[in-house]
Amino acid sequence: MLTYQEIIKEEDPRLREKALAVNLPLAAEDIALLETLNAYLVAGYDPEYAEQNDIRPGVGLAAPQLGIRKQMFVVVAFDENGELFHFGVINPKIVSHSEEKVYLPSGEGCLSVDREVQGLVHRSKRISLSAHYYNFTTKELTKQTLKLKDYIAIVCQHELDHLHGILFVDHIDPINPFFIPDNSTAIVFPASETKEN
Ligand code: NI
Repeated sequence: MLTYQEIIKEEDPRLREKALAVNLPLAAEDIALLETLNAYLVAGYDPEYAEQNDIRPGVGLAAPQLGIRKQMFVVVAFDENGELFHFGVINPKIVSHSEEKVYLPSGEGCLSVDREVQGLVHRSKRISLSAHYYNFTTKELTKQTLKLKDYIAIVCQHELDHLHGILFVDHIDPINPFFIPDNSTAIVFPASETKEN
């Protein structure tokens, strides 16, 4: 099992590299990587196990956060209606996005940023995300363009940024970190949900 210690942190230059497209069909080592990322995130939902095994809970984890330069990430997250979004995402591309934006009122977190960061990140409220999606139950890979909104759109944009060498802190306005543009609204989300990506 992967541990929090093994996730590389923001001072590591590998987090600033652009990840490369993954060859398809997936090689066995790429499926193993997806399963490793997934196992970590799933384990984070068991507080006792997480505590005992150096797992800091998160809702998303990207290959570059292990120093692996591949366009892959995994999301295990519940949206604001309690619906589970659970996929491996390979070679993703945003094909369209809304001008309207959303933000998490408590700000974002990241398993690669081990400090308190003050400030808001405004992201597209709706995106169409074209990718190959890996289903961890059926082990099937499907090319699809999914329409994502609100919390899941935020999580996927955060993870997609990791594939481009971008961290959430880069998006925070350095002069006025709590600035809210006219076209951005807060996500209303259960207060208990404060996991990191
Ligand atoms: Ni992150």
